[in-house]
Amino acid sequence: MKSKGLERLDIVSLFPGMFDGPLSESLIGKARERGLIDLRVHNLRDFSDDRKHRKVDDRPYGGGPGMVIRPEPVYRALKAIRATGTKRLKPHVIFMSPQGRLLTQKIAHDFAVKPWLLVLCGHYEGLDERIMSLVDDEVSIGDYVLTGGELPAMVFADTVVRLIPGVVKEAGSITRDSFQSGTLDYPHYTRPAIWRKKKVPAVLMSGHHEAIEFWRQQQAVAVTLRKRPDLLEEK
Ligand code: ADE
Repeated sequence: MKSKGLERLDIVSLFPGMFDGPLSESLIGKARERGLIDLRVHNLRDFSDDRKHRKVDDRPYGGGPGMVIRPEPVYRALKAIRATGTKRLKPHVIFMSPQGRLLTQKIAHDFAVKPWLLVLCGHYEGLDERIMSLVDDEVSIGDYVLTGGELPAMVFADTVVRLIPGVVKEAGSITRDSFQSGTLDYPHYTRPAIWRKKKVPAVLMSGHHEAIEFWRQQQAVAVTLRKRPDLLEEK
């Protein structure tokens, strides 16, 4: 059966409150309200095997700084969340980590066609390595280290949810995105036609659609050459 694309996204975190604003406002919030995505945020502590203190971490074997998230709470979280799906539908498990594959628009498209994503946010020194056998993909949002996987998970969720058909009203704004066609986006202008002596390029007001399209493609290449020439280099 062909997948209809992303329908459900679960996030497991030690700080679920961090997601309240970013994933409830704007386009993502609207997408949730309109039922285009079933987005659920879970508190890892709810799955702790330590009933009393709900502790999920411990000191690293071999010594060293920081704490490591124990495998059992993560295992329990994955098992419980998986059980809320159907037999045929299993989540694709992603761990946000600076060691992961670098997130690009291409990778976002690959994830946006999976029906169900489950994102694990790391913290402290990371997760016990033994849980990695249950992880399908590790994803990084850049070559820098954040205090935890929450901000990366928000970036990831925003990027993939916006690719679900209908989330962004005009499909054209997706196909024209920077990176989509291998170039950056062309410049945009709105009213007034003259603003503090600066004019809007005449071609945009000509009503000549082919000329406008040609100008935009030309501009996209020029902008890319100026700002990100690496994108145009042959790989
Ligand atoms: N956790 C900490 N830093 C990260 C990064 N750059 N990408 C994804 N997860 C992270």
